[in-house]
Amino acid sequence: MMANKLKKIAVLTSGGDAPGMNAAVRAVVRSAVYNNIECFGVYKGYEGLISDDLVKLNARGVNNIVNKGGTILKSARCLEFKTVEGRLKAKSTLDKYDIDSLVVIGGNGSLTGALLLEEEHGIKTIGIPGTIDNDLVGTRCSLGFDTALNTAVNAIDKIRDTASSHNRLFFIEVMGKGSGHIALNAGIGAGAEEVLIPEQDMGLDRLLDSLKKSEKSGKSSSIIVVSEGEKIGDNVFSFSSHIEKNLPHYEIRVSILGHIQRGGSPSSFDRVLASRMGVYAVDCLISNKSKVMVGIIDDNMVTIPIKDAIKGGQQLDKDLIRVCDIISI
Ligand code: F6P
Repeated sequence: MMANKLKKIAVLTSGGDAPGMNAAVRAVVRSAVYNNIECFGVYKGYEGLISDDLVKLNARGVNNIVNKGGTILKSARCLEFKTVEGRLKAKSTLDKYDIDSLVVIGGNGSLTGALLLEEEHGIKTIGIPGTIDNDLVGTRCSLGFDTALNTAVNAIDKIRDTASSHNRLFFIEVMGKGSGHIALNAGIGAGAEEVLIPEQDMGLDRLLDSLKKSEKSGKSSSIIVVSEGEKIGDNVFSFSSHIEKNLPHYEIRVSILGHIQRGGSPSSFDRVLASRMGVYAVDCLISNKSKVMVGIIDDNMVTIPIKDAIKGGQQLDKDLIRVCDIISI
């Protein structure tokens, strides 16, 4: 493909923050500088584009952040950017700085915004998948997923200690919006008895049967990992009260891991992935590719059109479900 003369690049982080976003910002900035392209950071995601909150970044401006959780650029879920008027304001800010290319690090909603900005205003956009939910199509994993998974597994390990000391049944809710990636992987990694995920309707009766079986087989405590997007009950408390009613001899506790899963220093896997994705995002812009999300498949950097990446339904590995069923007997 013909090399393209880029003017200036901006980078932003948007939506729910994810460990590894800083490492990706650092890689985008340094790769831009390496290629003699000016680079700007946008504060608070699309909000900063609308309100003209940008900072010029050079290689030293992103020192000491590769190991930091959160995002130094801040993040937001910007409602105004969902409107035509909001995107017009964003475009005029970009024009003011003579910026023609934008790297968006975020999840589904954030990449949808990037696509609209390119379609309506011709800004060249590249998406970097940054969400602990791992729900983008076209990449084996998104930034932050590995770290969040490790955080969840560490937390569940701790809960297991107290669960077994008291012979209790714990329902542990993990994040994931509509996707069960964290739940399934954390359930396997932490040795849960059951994993309840939105992709698979287990049904309350099967859950009851399974708990009865576990008890018969000699288990005195149990961990059930529930994805927050699970649809059988209203929420994790409705499961626990259903079980309490039907198996009253169980002593039950509920624990919601919540936002600790979004914080913390990124794992080395996420740091390396973020660095590769950041450099590849700039490579794509230089080679005149846009409207794509970068991803990793079979350890290779790949691109997928943003319109396909945001379709939803990043499939859970069926074999993982089978493994989970087998090892939790
Ligand atoms: O998309 C990441 C995520 O952490 C989801 O798992 C969760 O449903 C949501 O964000 C929570 O968002 P907020 O921090 O805005 O409440």
